[in-house]
Amino acid sequence: MANDREKEAAARASLQFIKDGQVVGLGTGSTAAYFIQLLGEQVKNGLRIRGIPSSDRSREQAAALGIPLTTLDECQMIDVTVDGADEVDPQLRLIKGGGGALLREKIVASATKQLVIVADASKRVPVLGRFPLPVEVIKFAQALVVKEIEALGAEVGVRLRADGKPFLTDENNHILDCQFGQIPDADGLARQFSDMPGVVEHGLFIGMARVVLIANGDEVSELRAQRYKA
Ligand code: 5RP
Repeated sequence: MANDREKEAAARASLQFIKDGQVVGLGTGSTAAYFIQLLGEQVKNGLRIRGIPSSDRSREQAAALGIPLTTLDECQMIDVTVDGADEVDPQLRLIKGGGGALLREKIVASATKQLVIVADASKRVPVLGRFPLPVEVIKFAQALVVKEIEALGAEVGVRLRADGKPFLTDENNHILDCQFGQIPDADGLARQFSDMPGVVEHGLFIGMARVVLIANGDEVSELRAQRYKA
């Protein structure tokens, strides 16, 4: 698929940010999986890094490839994280969490000096909100939080697995997929979610991405956050 080729191209371009000796955050999702695969090849060829995975899935993939791993318990500063995104706007604000790993992804991103996002061209949007915003919620508070989010104007659905049971995150919480349509004030909405008891984390990543690598066909464009432009 064209998207897969673009995902791999973006992931390949991110390797230039990885240097010997670094601690590397490993994102989650199909684009991040290409990155982990390529990183594994580099490790086999002698690159010395330690990875901190943002999900059980990514940890299993990295371990199978022989990538040395560490944890936030051992190391609280990550040099570079490479992760995917569901949407990227012109200010490099992101929606993440399509793969259900937004909580650990945000924690890993928050401990990272350089967050590099890799994505295919379909992820670039003028305004966030076409993709339903994932919100991780404590089960005890779910009904209450659904009501509050609906009052903000979204259609809210509990994410389900293929067997019809609620999807469980690595931290054993549920995900609410919230369809807002366009989100004109992403910063304001992020603040509202932060103030909502029962919400563990939301999928708006604001002011976190430093570099976004977007593949369009075989071409990869590098977008830099305003404050990091050379
Ligand atoms: C997982 C994520 C992913 O990075 C996001 O869903 C993009 O996934 P993909 O690379 O498969 O399109 O946030 O929680």
